[in-house]
Amino acid sequence: METKNNNLPEVVMPETEPIKILAGQKALVTGANSGIGEGIALELGKAGADIVVNYVTNPDQAEAVVEKIKMTGAKAIAVKADVSKEDEVGSMFEEMFKHFGTIDILINNAGLQQDSQFDMMSIDKWDKVIGVNLTGQFLCAREAIKEFKRRGVKKEVSCAAGKIIHISSVHEVIPWAGHVNYASSKGGIMMLMKSIAQEVAPYRIRVNSICPGAIRTPINKQAWDTPEAYNKLMELIPYGRIGEVDDIGRAAVWLASDHADYITGTSIFIDGGMTLYPGFATGG
Ligand code: BGC
Repeated sequence: METKNNNLPEVVMPETEPIKILAGQKALVTGANSGIGEGIALELGKAGADIVVNYVTNPDQAEAVVEKIKMTGAKAIAVKADVSKEDEVGSMFEEMFKHFGTIDILINNAGLQQDSQFDMMSIDKWDKVIGVNLTGQFLCAREAIKEFKRRGVKKEVSCAAGKIIHISSVHEVIPWAGHVNYASSKGGIMMLMKSIAQEVAPYRIRVNSICPGAIRTPINKQAWDTPEAYNKLMELIPYGRIGEVDDIGRAAVWLASDHADYITGTSIFIDGGMTLYPGFATGG
């Protein structure tokens, strides 16, 4: 069997004019002041959607993302809310409706890790991760669905009455020692997504997940910021490179658009093959 080529070229995406495939749509991206959320917010903005940039800490970062989105011609505002708190989520949606009138796309992205060996894991670490990653996605999805049902389909905007994209993880299927709270939250997101999708499909509401693998963001810096760590990470990624936030952003634009209109209840893995059991390429 051939061994991995470590001299693969850098990935350069073709420069194309952004297609305003989401023109006229209003999107809320939770946790959009950094990492994958920021990447998605920028791509949705380029595609013509107006964006609420949700954040809970670092307002300056959120404002910087707002400014970048505005440079593409889209409208954007930053709204602070802790997605694990019911009242704050309610106020965030009110704020969004005040500015943009409605919501067409929810990107349920806010998430965090609080790692611990299992028998040392405090209830606080468990509650925090489940609260933000799972309860937060429930609370935001519930508010979005209320509005999608109230408003229904507006043909000139989209053929769906609304779209939710849950940002899950490869860890909705890959068990993760030392990260039991995180993996449990992501496994929960899978059934949250599928069950909501089943319930609301008759209203022409589409609900899907994107499951990123290792993407270059602050959450996993220790896994890529030294050559040793990066090489070790590559043992888990058959495609031989780390993911970038644009890899997720571009897929989110397409999945939210009418080009993906028949897709609901599905998890899309964007992971360079991390879920392909890479150990079996040479073993088993
Ligand atoms: C985690 C990252 C990790 C990746 C692959 C993500 O969901 O947040 O820390 O690198 O999964 O294991």
